[in-house]
Amino acid sequence: MEPELETRRRLQEAGQQHLLRFLGELSAGGKEALLGELRLLAPGEFREHCRRAEEAYVRDSSCPQRLDDKMRPVPPEFLGSIRKSDPEDLISWEEEGFRLISQNKVAVLLLAGGQGTRLGVTYPKGMYSVGLPSGKTLYQIQAERILRLQKLAGEKHCRKCTVPWYIMTSEFTLSPTQKFFEEHNFFGVDRSDVVMFEQRMLPAVGFDGKAILERKDKLAMAPDGNGGLYRALTDNHILEDMETRGISYIHVYCVDNILVKMADPVFVGFCVSKGADCGAKVVEKAYPAEPVGLVCQVDGVYQVVEYSEISPDTAERRNHDGSLTYTTGNICNHFFTLDFLKTVAGSLEPRLGYHVAIKKVPFVDEQGNLVKPVQPNGIKLEKFVFDVFQFSRNFVAFEVVREEEFSPLKNADTAEKDTPTTARRALLWQHYRWALRAGAKFTDANGRVIAGNSGVPELVDPPAVCEISPLISYFGEGLHVHLNNKDISSPFILDSHRL
Ligand code: UD1
Repeated sequence: MEPELETRRRLQEAGQQHLLRFLGELSAGGKEALLGELRLLAPGEFREHCRRAEEAYVRDSSCPQRLDDKMRPVPPEFLGSIRKSDPEDLISWEEEGFRLISQNKVAVLLLAGGQGTRLGVTYPKGMYSVGLPSGKTLYQIQAERILRLQKLAGEKHCRKCTVPWYIMTSEFTLSPTQKFFEEHNFFGVDRSDVVMFEQRMLPAVGFDGKAILERKDKLAMAPDGNGGLYRALTDNHILEDMETRGISYIHVYCVDNILVKMADPVFVGFCVSKGADCGAKVVEKAYPAEPVGLVCQVDGVYQVVEYSEISPDTAERRNHDGSLTYTTGNICNHFFTLDFLKTVAGSLEPRLGYHVAIKKVPFVDEQGNLVKPVQPNGIKLEKFVFDVFQFSRNFVAFEVVREEEFSPLKNADTAEKDTPTTARRALLWQHYRWALRAGAKFTDANGRVIAGNSGVPELVDPPAVCEISPLISYFGEGLHVHLNNKDISSPFILDSHRL
C-alpha cells in the first residue's frame, strides 16, 4: 500500500485521522515531515498512548489519590544524615567515595531534557547564568566541579582519574546544549568524557483523547519525563558505554540545583558502604506544608509521594520527640548501581506508570490558525526518574543540609522562591561562609571591615561578595592557603587564573 494510504489507515484505526486534515494544503516538504513524524509512531502504541492519556486525565481530575494510610517514613537504619551521623562515619564514607572515584568507577548523569517553562527561557536551563560576579552558567559550574573532583580524588590516590559526564537531553535541548559545550570548549572537560544522548518524545493529547497538531504539519510533542531516562539508556546504548568504561556507580541529578555536589564522595561512599542498589539524597522539609515530594514507603515499597497525595494532618504529623514524621524532601539526586540500572532498563521499565501533566499546548484550530490557549487544553504523560525506587532491593536515603546542597532554579525572578536571585544568594552565602572559615577578612570599598554571618540567605545578600571557583574548591576544602589572614576587598572572585 502507498505510504500515505497506509498512514491514513493506521490513523483511522487509532481514531486519530484528524491529524491529516491539512495534508492537502501542505507543500511537498511539509507533507513529508508530517507523514514522517506519524510513521515513527508505532500504531498500537500510539492508540494506547492517547487512550491512556484521556483515561489518566479523567481519573486524576475526579478523585485525587490519598496515600496517608499506606505511608511509612524511611526507617532510621536506612537513613544517613550529615547532621546526625557520627563524624567518623562521614569521614569514612567520604574516603570510600574518593577511593571509588579514583578507580574510575563513578559517573555522573545529568537530567537535562526538561523545557524549563517555569523559568521562562527558550534555551536549556543549564545555559542560564544567575548573575554571579563571574557570569558563570550552571553548566560551567558543574563542569568545573567535575574537574576539581577528579583532581582531588586523583591526588588522594596518586593516579589520574575520570568522572564521565552523561547528559540526557531531549529534542528541545540536544542541539543548543551541544553547541554551547562546543563554543565553550566543553569547559575544560575532556570531550570524550562527555556523552550526550536524547530521550524520547510523546504526543500531547487533548482532553477528548485526540493528539494535538501544533502546526498544520507537526504534532505537539513533549519529552517523556525524566523517567524517560531508562528507555533512553537502552535506546542509546549508554549502559554498554558505562560498562566499557568500568563504571559501577552513577550519581543522577537534575540541572537546576546550583549547589549540586556532583558525584558527592560522601553520598556515594554512604550508599556503597550500605550495599545499596538505589539511593536518594533528601533535605529536611523547611516547614510541614512545604510543597515538596517526600521519599517514603508506600505499602512497603519506596517511592516519592507528592504533597498533593497526603492530607495536611499527615504533613503535620510528629514523632514522640516533637520532630516531624515525614521530613525527607526529594531533591532529585539519586544513586544507582550499574547493575540496578541494567535490571530496570532491561525488563522493569514497562512497569513504570505515567504521570499526568495538564498544560497549555499551542494548537491549530479547524481553520488552520495557530492558537495559544489561555487555559490548559492538553495532557502530557511523563514517567518520573524516582519511580524505580519500588524495584530496589536495598534502598537508602541520605539527608543533607539544605543551605549547603540545595537551591534549585525553577522560577523567574517574579516568583518568591527558587529564582535566579535565591540561587545566586545561596551560592554566594556558601562561599562567604567557606571564606570566613578559611580565615578571610573582608573590607568594603572604603576599607572598613565587614563583619557578621547572619541573615536569611533567601532574602538578603551576604555581607561581602566572594565567589570561589569550583576549580579551586569543590566543597570548601583547600581555601586556607589562599584566604587565611588575607584582607579581601568585596566583591572578590577567587579563580584559578587570578592566582
Ligand atoms: C523535581 C522532582 C521533585 C523534587 C524537585 C527538586 C521529579 C519528577 N520531580 O521536580 O520530586 O522535589 O525536582 O528540585 O524528579 N527533565 C528531563 N526530561 C523531562 C523532564 C524533566 O530530563 O522530560 C529533567 C529537567 O531538565 C530537570 C529534572 O528533570 O533537570 C527535574 O525536572 P522537573 O520537571 O523540573 O521536576 P521538578 O518539578 O523540578
